[in-house]
Amino acid sequence: MTLWYVARAAGVVAMIMFTLSAAFGIVTSGSRNPERRFWFQYVHRSAAVTGLVLLGAHVIAVIADSNVAISPTVLLWPFGSGYRPFAMALGTLALYGVVLAAVAGAARGRLAHSRTFSKYWRTIHIAASVGWALSIGHALLAGTDRSTPWMLAITLSCLVAVVGASFYRAHTYAPSNLVRTR
Ligand code: HEM
Repeated sequence: MTLWYVARAAGVVAMIMFTLSAAFGIVTSGSRNPERRFWFQYVHRSAAVTGLVLLGAHVIAVIADSNVAISPTVLLWPFGSGYRPFAMALGTLALYGVVLAAVAGAARGRLAHSRTFSKYWRTIHIAASVGWALSIGHALLAGTDRSTPWMLAITLSCLVAVVGASFYRAHTYAPSNLVRTR
């Protein structure tokens, strides 16, 4: 059972890390203070990397564990799982989203000179937000603990954190709240 607990714990903490990364990413782009931007960006990236490592552990552990039959082929064909097919499809599509955003983020420094890459980078980065949203759906539908009050509280807190960060950013960017410099 140890592997099964590791699998689920890694999934829960990965979801929390992606939430932290998403919330800090949202407020970073709304901040004009360079020092604050630096630290927000630091938390945004560190949480994303930690989330990816834990996601790797989650996926390896659910596949290796014999408690449920999850074939590695589900990573190639998201709709092919015999166990909770819809929830597993959401999880695999979430993985695609966060991995695509991570690869594009890692390539950003090297391809900074490319106008085409810079132009499309923001669009590609939206994959991270879509991945995060799908991972919330996956957590609400997949887990053994999904209907327990503590797990529901964690998942809904993740949702509230990102929605709250979006409202905060929208409020700080509202024209009526922008400080006039002239
Ligand atoms: C961004 C991607 C993902 C995140 C954040 C994530 C997170 C989670 C979370 C929070 C749970 C609930 C744990 C619980 O209630 O005990 C869970 C369950 C589960 N996940 Fe994922 N997951 C992701 C992707 C995947 C992928 C790609 C797979 C399959 C290869 C997968 C397989 C599973 C399985 C089998 C369960 C059910 C465990 C159970 O029945 O309790 N997950 N995941």
